[in-house]
Amino acid sequence: MSGFHKDVILKDDAPSQLYLVKHRDFILGYAKNQNSYEYVMSEWLRTSGVYWCLTALKLLNDGHLKEDDLFKFVMSCYNEEKGGFGASENHDPHLLYTLSAIQILAMINRLDDVDKDKVVSYVVTLQQTDGSFWGDEWGEVDTRFTFCAFATLTILDRLSDCDVNKGVHFVLRCKNFDGAFGCVPGSESHAGQVFCCVGALSIAHKLHLLDVDQLAWWLCERQLPSGGLNGRPEKLPDVCYSWWVLASLKIIGRTHWLDKPSLIKFILASQDEETGGFADRPGDMVDPFHTLFGLAGLSLLGDQHLAKVNPVLCLPQSLVDHLGLKLETVSSSS
Ligand code: FPP
Ligand code: ZN
Repeated sequence: MSGFHKDVILKDDAPSQLYLVKHRDFILGYAKNQNSYEYVMSEWLRTSGVYWCLTALKLLNDGHLKEDDLFKFVMSCYNEEKGGFGASENHDPHLLYTLSAIQILAMINRLDDVDKDKVVSYVVTLQQTDGSFWGDEWGEVDTRFTFCAFATLTILDRLSDCDVNKGVHFVLRCKNFDGAFGCVPGSESHAGQVFCCVGALSIAHKLHLLDVDQLAWWLCERQLPSGGLNGRPEKLPDVCYSWWVLASLKIIGRTHWLDKPSLIKFILASQDEETGGFADRPGDMVDPFHTLFGLAGLSLLGDQHLAKVNPVLCLPQSLVDHLGLKLETVSSSS
């Protein structure tokens, strides 16, 4: 039946075990080699890059990154006047990088070293009268930014500083007839946006407003004969969707509707057994983004070698527990 889908065919000799040490070395090498092509090229998303690398190492139970250096780096991206964080030093602040910065500060236990009132005020001033959030002062609206705002505020224990009900109302307006969500009202359903909307509803404790079974059906349709998951109909499977789709299913208590063994096989096949790291799909170039989401997906699938990950915040579950963060999930049923 695979002829009816855009899909990949897994090779018989594709990697089928998890290369823990290689992944650690890949991430550490990437973080250290500051003159590398990849490092220079990623200046525009460096704060998020550091979040991907640090979280991947935490899931690998590795403590090798120097936390003082990480703190200095994050604070160099802070805009004191506006209260948000940018991708790199002297870059304009944005909600995407503000969430990454707060996630890093939480992981290195330095949340108390930032002016929380200023960060909270940066986030809440980006909320619009319809409940949506701008990503930054330039006014782009997207449900990704609602997630970033809610997640940042909840980690800082200040969710109630924004208008949560209006934020939820906007998210629900982005729901389509197929039960899934898009960037703005009326835009195409996309698994990345589903993650953002389900995550936002979990943070707001409003999951009862979802039609869980209809949404779970759409999410499970993302699984292809190769075992991999795509982000929308007619797209190729991609390891990062093992996170966006699987985490959404985890939050709504429906991961048992997927074929887990074949998904595990697809994720493992996307590793590079020589260099370490995961690619978007078998045979492509590896990168820290797909490495984090490959590992995080395997963690959600119960891999015992990895630390448990929280499906809403993509942070180690032990940290989420330690911070006392309460995120809603739906208990699983048939
Ligand atoms: C697809 O991106 C992914 C998304 C739209 C989800 C983005 C999620 C966030 C910004 C929140 C991140 C937070 C955590 C906790 C991980 P894409 O542009 O690659 O889409 P494409 O596959 O269609 O190109
Ligand atoms: Zn991807």
